[in-house]
Amino acid sequence: MVIGLMSAMPEELELALHELADGPLLGFEHGGRTFHTGRMCGRECVAVFSRWGKVAAATTATELISRFGVQAIVFTGVAGGLAPGLHVGDIVVADKLYQHDMDARPLFPRFEVPLTGRAGLETDASIRESLVRAASAFVEDACGAAGGGIGPAPGRRPRVVVGTVVSGDRFIARASEAAELRAAIEGAVCVEMEGAAVAQVCAEYGVPFGVVRVISDAADEHAPGTFHSFVETVASRYSVGIARRFLLGRRNL
Ligand code: ADE
Repeated sequence: MVIGLMSAMPEELELALHELADGPLLGFEHGGRTFHTGRMCGRECVAVFSRWGKVAAATTATELISRFGVQAIVFTGVAGGLAPGLHVGDIVVADKLYQHDMDARPLFPRFEVPLTGRAGLETDASIRESLVRAASAFVEDACGAAGGGIGPAPGRRPRVVVGTVVSGDRFIARASEAAELRAAIEGAVCVEMEGAAVAQVCAEYGVPFGVVRVISDAADEHAPGTFHSFVETVASRYSVGIARRFLLGRRNL
């Protein structure tokens, strides 16, 4: 099975290509993106930086499936935290995704993707379980016996949470807007800009899909600063650490 690895940040992809590749990777340019093909941690993979937003993510996912023949897609990146008790550095594995800016009322209910009859799209159970195992192992290895850590609060052990991820073409940087999202979509745990678009493409093509997001900010007025410092310092270590354990865990699947 060829696995498509999508990242929302170039830093993340660069480190993954450097650290996870078993040998030389070939780069193919299409539609302004570079698709890197080769073996990573013993698996055939195609890794690509999607760029930001739903259109960029959906076209990249479509290319991965129809041009490169991937049979599963995993998206890694960062997100703004919505759920109370979630901190910068915590990890969210999506079980369901919504497009929070999809609104064709009064023709269709809010959030429903027109003509599909569906609003929330579920991730693949097996990929989800593998991602939870990979994220938990990463946290254990990084923070285990040595009492060390990762992230902005080295003494604090990041949580791994499974929940609803919401996506839209907007960087959320106001506490009031974050509160509206939380109220509008029951159980919304974090917000980002790509996942639900990839979920829709994968549902339509019948390709299993998973998302893992590390909380980079609280989607409030401090979000721009917190986001930048998290992305510049630790985000890539998380993604690569989780991706490595995920690929190794799925060697026989
Ligand atoms: N990705 C990371 N933080 C985000 C935020 N606050 N809003 C949207 N996408 C994000």
